[in-house]
Amino acid sequence: MDYSCIIFQKEENYALITLNRPEKLNALNTQLFNELNHALIEIEKDPKIRLLLLTGSGEKAFAAGADIAELNASNQQTGRLFSEHGSKVMERLANLPIPSIAMVNGFALGGGCELAVSCHIRFCSEKAKFGQPEVNLGIIPGYGGTQGLSRLIGTAKAMELNISGKIISAQDAKEIGLVNEVFPHDELKEKTMDFVNLVLSKSPKAVSSVVRAVTASQTLSPSEGLAYESILFGQMCGTDDFKEGTSAFLEKRKAVFL
Ligand code: COA
Repeated sequence: MDYSCIIFQKEENYALITLNRPEKLNALNTQLFNELNHALIEIEKDPKIRLLLLTGSGEKAFAAGADIAELNASNQQTGRLFSEHGSKVMERLANLPIPSIAMVNGFALGGGCELAVSCHIRFCSEKAKFGQPEVNLGIIPGYGGTQGLSRLIGTAKAMELNISGKIISAQDAKEIGLVNEVFPHDELKEKTMDFVNLVLSKSPKAVSSVVRAVTASQTLSPSEGLAYESILFGQMCGTDDFKEGTSAFLEKRKAVFL
């Protein structure tokens, strides 16, 4: 596929997707969602890719939401499809079996905030701003702002953001658990890459199993979740990564995972 709304880069063992409509603050239109979906399928199929980084191009935005110009033409039927189409892509992202990190470089509003929330981890610049301003437009969040966001920050805080449409600072986003870390704007990439390299130095199979187990905790009951964790734990004990990790500890050397 030729990508025009995103830049999809495969590095040695991770992928970087850059939302690339800077003149429209990386607003999420149908073409962008199609391209993102395609890139995510590529990532799912490529065992060499062990982590995904997602960011926005330009100085101002991660993504300023769904494309309002495109949305404006919606009626009841097409509006529902618009929401379902985007939500499917968000779900694909949230269910990736490798860690995904949103590197939020500016505005993450509406669908932009929902996209960041669909990643497993969020690091942001001190210039980043977050919010669900859909009530200003006479709509509601359509890609999980009333669902995944509630699970992440709790229903009261999600309700507060969703009914007020207010835009909050990076620091406030950290305080309510919406982002993991806030970094000086110029250091966002470097600090994020420090974390990426730390994760990439660990057992790839163990990292992927952690991602699957934590993701499953969102939908399984506590006892089902523990049972699933035990299944994955058992599977890990049959891997080369397990042999190498435990042997390296006992032999007092650094583990080397292939
Ligand atoms: N959809 C479509 N276009 C968008 C957009 C969106 N969600 N957000 C920004 N843009 C476009 C603007 O229309 C403008 O295009 P133009 O230069 O052709 O007029 C361009 O991006 C730059 O945006 P602008 O509003 O001029 O930048 P700003 O710095 O003054 O304001 C924001 C930045 C983010 C506060 C403002 O763009 C905004 O409120 N965007 C909409 C946020 C929103 O409601 N998101 C939820 C959508 S469901």
